[in-house]
Amino acid sequence: MTRLKNYPTEDPVLVTCGLPYASGTMHIGHLRTYVPADVFVRLLRKMGVDVTFVCGSDTHGTPVVTVAEKEGLTPKEVYQKYHQHYVETFPKLNIFFDNYGTTDDKENVDRTLQIVDELQKNGYIYSKELETPYCDTCGRSQPDRFVRGECPYCHSDARGDECDQGCGRYLEPGEILNPRCAICGNPTRPVSRTHYFLKLTEFSSFLEDYLQKMGGTKNARNFALSWVREGLQDWCITRDLDWGIKYPGEADLVLYVWVDAPIHYMSSTEQWAKGIGQPDAWEKYWKPGDGRLVHYIGQDIVYHHCLFWPSMLKGSGYNLPFAVVASGMVKVEGHNFSRSRGYVVFIEEDYLDNGLDPDYLRYYMVASTSQTKDLDFSWQTLAEKVNNELVATLGNFIYRALHFTKKHYGSVPEGKLDSKLKKEINKTIDGIVSAVNEYELKKVADEVLRLAAVGNEYFQSNKPWDLVKTDKGKCGEVLYNAAALVKALTILVDPILPSTAETVWGQLGHEPSEIHEVPLDEALNPPTVGTELGTPKPVISKIDDDLLASLKESISNRIRAAEAAQKGEDMEEESEIISFEYFKKIDLRAGVILEVEKVPKKDKLLKIKVDIGTETRTMVTGLADQYKPDELQGMTALFLVNLEPKKIGGIESHGMILAVEKADEPGRWVPVTVDGVPPGSKAA
Ligand code: MSP
Ligand code: ZN
Repeated sequence: MTRLKNYPTEDPVLVTCGLPYASGTMHIGHLRTYVPADVFVRLLRKMGVDVTFVCGSDTHGTPVVTVAEKEGLTPKEVYQKYHQHYVETFPKLNIFFDNYGTTDDKENVDRTLQIVDELQKNGYIYSKELETPYCDTCGRSQPDRFVRGECPYCHSDARGDECDQGCGRYLEPGEILNPRCAICGNPTRPVSRTHYFLKLTEFSSFLEDYLQKMGGTKNARNFALSWVREGLQDWCITRDLDWGIKYPGEADLVLYVWVDAPIHYMSSTEQWAKGIGQPDAWEKYWKPGDGRLVHYIGQDIVYHHCLFWPSMLKGSGYNLPFAVVASGMVKVEGHNFSRSRGYVVFIEEDYLDNGLDPDYLRYYMVASTSQTKDLDFSWQTLAEKVNNELVATLGNFIYRALHFTKKHYGSVPEGKLDSKLKKEINKTIDGIVSAVNEYELKKVADEVLRLAAVGNEYFQSNKPWDLVKTDKGKCGEVLYNAAALVKALTILVDPILPSTAETVWGQLGHEPSEIHEVPLDEALNPPTVGTELGTPKPVISKIDDDLLASLKESISNRIRAAEAAQKGEDMEEESEIISFEYFKKIDLRAGVILEVEKVPKKDKLLKIKVDIGTETRTMVTGLADQYKPDELQGMTALFLVNLEPKKIGGIESHGMILAVEKADEPGRWVPVTVDGVPPGSKAA
């Protein structure tokens, strides 16, 4: 029935998405995985396939530890916070998983240990001494993202486990050249200790065979095959880190995050099975058999999904992925995605909080470009796609057709489906089926838009506004066909625009949410004559120029702020020549520090009260890590008193103590004292 060559209705399908690291909020890059996967699942379901859709938060590894250190929280607090964010944000985008757990859940820890144990029993794991970077300044081993250096393959600046700025290769621990600590910047030194390795090399010929048959997009297959052919090396599966799943029998080694992360695809399925009261139901996907595993990911993690993951599954006797669908990367306004440089769009603060409809973004993510091409996000193209395609073509036809029909007939008038239109609908369905076969969802959007254009053309050329005055029967016939097209469009666009489809389904006189249950082929059946129509309203509205301008501005502000921060760092050493006039504006005076207090919960801050001659000022200084309160109390120093007031650590600070940073001891600050002069004495 499905006409899907890869997905016969008898075989159960499990669709998964690359797990977001629970160390930051959702951004536009993530959606390149989640939106197409959700659309794919909805399409399969509309074609009668039994699909389960799972995901979860990735909670281990250095991404979470780094943020924990920055935010002063424990790794667990960090992942709980962001996990909650993901749980709340997915539904706001009409993305619904059958289960969404975390890699720290008991099911995942248990399943990971079971798989590692099985790999060990089967002789695929061995231990070996390995030299990895240790930072003497930070006093610890610095694996993965905690170290940067030079990529041994393309010589770009890279992070410990991935050449993130260059060739994109996965890097083994110890492989990076000239390593330096990513936290303090100092060179690291190699330390040697025992680590555990998976014999990836033993899977080479299996992988070469398997990958040629693996379904999905060809970028995944081809990249992975080329890496196998270049020659693999064994994979270090342990890390010198406190946070993660402890390696059995080793007190201070944890499993590398990329061991337990994909295993959550399995444990999330187990959680789902428990949830529906059939605890064994996960096995139909994961034990060898007819279950089909489909992984949606971004191209950045093909290595992990096409080399490590199938080897782990093979070595422990589980089912293998049927297809890996890898998307091209999302860029922002022509630049590689980068939080630190401001090239990022956050889903909540930049999109949803501006009141934008999630369906627009869903449409944009699938309709912009082929699955495997990079997608360059810009607000301008989003607005163009929404205004020219969704509003002008699709929304316009639906509204015109329903509004006119409701006004003159109230319900679906009598008629017969025009055979040419039926052919068009059929052609659209065929196009959608082949799009799903090819994992090329842009074609689904293109097909739907084409059918909407056929609708506009049909409406325009039949001139129902004339017919209604001359031949009401003939007019009814035209509107019957227009309603048939609206119905077809609603069913066919539902996987991409679920909220919009619900609204139109209601306008067609049905229970709105039932649209999601309507099978694709129902698009060929015209609506029942006499069905009372709901109230037609335009369902898609334009992104107007004002909104567009403010969206653009928010992103350029972020980019400018990031550039300024970067420049600030680069320029520290140089000084600009200023005029004496300019200098005279700077009001420097001697002041006496009268009181000093610690600022609660802020390690570096001290609140001081300073007598500057004319008045007593409150200021906040960052000297707490270097001076005790009583060392500062009573000190007479120089203060900048005409600095604009600013809140620091929640306290309004008005003025600044001058201090010099010792040239021979960076980070060591000494206040500029002027002993023996009365407060208020001016410097010039
Ligand atoms: N935690 C890992 C995945 C583990 S899967 C067993 C990870 N997390 S992530 O938060 O960085 O990314 C989550 C998903 O979003 C992945 O599928 C990733 O490929 C995708 N993307 C994240 N940023 C992206 C872009 N800028 N562009 C396209 N997709 C990218 O990777
Ligand atoms: Zn490289």
